[in-house]
Amino acid sequence: MDLGLKGKRAIVTGGSKGIGKAILNKLVAEGASVATCSRGAAALNDALGEWRSQGAQAYGEAIDVTDAEAYENWLKRSAEQLGGVDIFISNVSTRIQSQGEQRWLDTFEVDFMQHVRATELAIPYLKQGNSPALVFISTIASVMANIVPMEREYGAMKAALNAYASQLAHRLAEDGIRSNYVTPGPINFEGGFWSNVQKADPTLFERASQISALQRHGTPEEVANAVVFLASPAASYITGANLRVDGGALKNTHY
Ligand SMILES: NC(=O)c1ccc[n+]([C@@H]2O[C@H](COP(=O)([O-])OP(=O)(O)OC[C@H]3O[C@@H](n4cnc5c(N)ncnc54)[C@H](OP(=O)(O)O)[C@@H]3O)[C@@H](O)[C@H]2O)c1
Repeated sequence: MDLGLKGKRAIVTGGSKGIGKAILNKLVAEGASVATCSRGAAALNDALGEWRSQGAQAYGEAIDVTDAEAYENWLKRSAEQLGGVDIFISNVSTRIQSQGEQRWLDTFEVDFMQHVRATELAIPYLKQGNSPALVFISTIASVMANIVPMEREYGAMKAALNAYASQLAHRLAEDGIRSNYVTPGPINFEGGFWSNVQKADPTLFERASQISALQRHGTPEEVANAVVFLASPAASYITGANLRVDGGALKNTHY
């Protein structure tokens, strides 16, 4: 199936590793031009080099998306470099170290507010785009309580993100912009959160595997396939949807 992504201009936040990088790998393979960011420069520059060596136009900068001014400047430069924006994928999350009320506030910033700020700034560019689409990377923790300890704040903020993504589907329909979100289950890759858990707490890792009907963690590529499909013109009649990529972890019927 041709996804219709050749020549599309796509921005993905947090693309130097993990799920974000897998999404960009797929977009590049499909012929899209891409821009991304991360706080660290080394992995970002390596990734940009890989995409450029495949002939893609790829732009990136080391910035922190929670720095509103740095984010806005990066987005402007990204849109200029790509010559416009057709696809915006809001992917960043960060493991929060603080505790108590501060943990709620820090998680609000990283897992909700920066997505809103980033998206509202991207929308004017998308309004000028071709078959424009937004995709948000949520989590199964937004709809399923208590998968792993310490995810209360993360799950609550991502639930708010789901609501925001759904509202945008209605608000932006008249501009031809679709808005969808993907809720992955536990995703394992070298250097990621779950590979660290696998080493430090194999029992918890195993328990997380067992929540899915498929009895295993997912891969970043399995999430990326769903995200890139939703972002593509091949999903032209899908908006306001939550595509679960969780190996059948949720046991209820999806209405
Ligand atoms: N992994 C899972 O099991 C899983 C499950 C469900 C949902 N998700 C969701 O999937 C998304 C990606 O998760 P992941 O596991 O791939 O994360 P990850 O491995 O931690 O990668 C996150 C990416 O975002 C960048 N980043 C983090 N904070 C940033 C900031 N403040 N400003 C700019 N860039 C930042 C990271 O680079 P730097 O560190 O260099 O900044 C990296 O490129 C997140 O929204 C997460 O909630 C993940």
